Amino acid sequence: MENSYWSPIPEPCAIALFGVTGHLSRHKILPAFYDLFHRGLLPAGFALVGFARREWSREEFALWTKEQIRENCRTKFDEEVFSLLCPHFYFSKGTFDDEESFRALKGEMERASKEQGAREKMFYLSIPPASFPLVVERLKGCGLADPKDPFQKVVIEKPFGWDLESARSLNALLSSAFSSSQVFRVDHYLGKEMVQDLLPLRRENPLFGALWSSKYVDHVEISVAESAGVEGRAAYYEKAGAARDVLQNHLMQLLALTAMEEPKRGEEREKKIEVLKSCSVSDLKRTSARGQYSAGFASGKFVPGYRQEPGVDPLSFTDTFAALKIQVLTPRWEGAPFYLRTGKRLAKRSAEVALVLKQNETLPSGGNANALVFRIQPGEGVWAEFSTKAPGKEILREARMGFSYKAEFAEGCPEAYENLALDAMLGRTSMFPSEEETELSWKITDELEEFWKREPSTLEFYEAGSCGPNSAAKLMERDGRKWRKL
Ligand code: BG6
Repeated sequence: MENSYWSPIPEPCAIALFGVTGHLSRHKILPAFYDLFHRGLLPAGFALVGFARREWSREEFALWTKEQIRENCRTKFDEEVFSLLCPHFYFSKGTFDDEESFRALKGEMERASKEQGAREKMFYLSIPPASFPLVVERLKGCGLADPKDPFQKVVIEKPFGWDLESARSLNALLSSAFSSSQVFRVDHYLGKEMVQDLLPLRRENPLFGALWSSKYVDHVEISVAESAGVEGRAAYYEKAGAARDVLQNHLMQLLALTAMEEPKRGEEREKKIEVLKSCSVSDLKRTSARGQYSAGFASGKFVPGYRQEPGVDPLSFTDTFAALKIQVLTPRWEGAPFYLRTGKRLAKRSAEVALVLKQNETLPSGGNANALVFRIQPGEGVWAEFSTKAPGKEILREARMGFSYKAEFAEGCPEAYENLALDAMLGRTSMFPSEEETELSWKITDELEEFWKREPSTLEFYEAGSCGPNSAAKLMERDGRKWRKL
């Protein structure tokens, strides 16, 4: 087998990080660069220029960064490793509305690039979506954004708009400053190790690949369940809700990756687009479910309902749970629907893609439907569920055959942000949703949101710590199926 899954080292690169003091940067982005460096995967010519309002010297920025990394890195924190990384940190003080700040940033980027010998430039925008237009304009204004420059990249974080229309304007804005090959839209689920392995597993193993169609698969279930609540993000979440927050991006990308035809290298986006174009929803009253958590016991303690969370409207109609049945109208999936669900304050934190196989009609009682489960988190791994005869008895029992990355490999799974930062530096676009992918996913989400707006009574309460609203269970029952246990 050709081993094409090795990790090359990116070209020397200077990165300007906007929103460097924000939650995402402190918890994920900065630690990811430390972890990559620790693993020997950053180029020797690497520079990270923090851009923020604070009155920091370069040394003060490095000191602050050290604390964020120490608290949040995945690999062991090592003073010596950090002292080697430290000279790669730079700082430029500024605000988004001030042109002069961007000229200063340009100067600092030039200095960093010269000192580190870096030709590539990356602008990492970990900022609120409302600030995108201004920052992109400023980058253009000071000559830092050039669609023809092959050494320039921009990385942007979700949300990519609130609906199809706003996503289109955001994409138009980006394409006024950058060419499509320069833009990397982060969907962090695509950086998760199990998700990155979906294609290789299927491509390299007939054990999985041979089952990959409705010939054997009865239906596919994709779940992103969370036990946590809204966690102080009410200002954003009140306007988003579960469908916009997770279904539109993470779930639709997982669907596209699972349902696509096997791509040749470099064809991944094209194949995902084919799937997204073939997605069809109908009769949403019967094929979707929408819920909001009420007070209950979650993770062993009593927790308030969504409406009682700080910053949430006491009469809020925001969905904290969403489920949807989608038909993928391609020959491969004919007759095998995809069921998506996501929710906060559910019984467990669990994300997985499950291919539930067709049941053998002659199966004696006690037999269980076979399933191939790709567990994204927690405990990344793959397993098969099947039935076996209980020893010495004439009855069947459920059994499991499994693989876990943790048990198999000495090296732990990288964090999603390590994989994605590396891919972006290497210019690998396949694990970043394209403009068209985001718009196609919004089209489906908009249809769902519009239906829910017309039918507000579809919102159903579910107790925190439960498996979601009854309407979700009914959605499956109507098709003679049931959700997998959380
Ligand atoms: C984010 C959503 O994209 O994904 C959050 O905005 C959600 O609401 C999070 O909690 C889940 O990600 P993970 O990696 O913790 O499963």
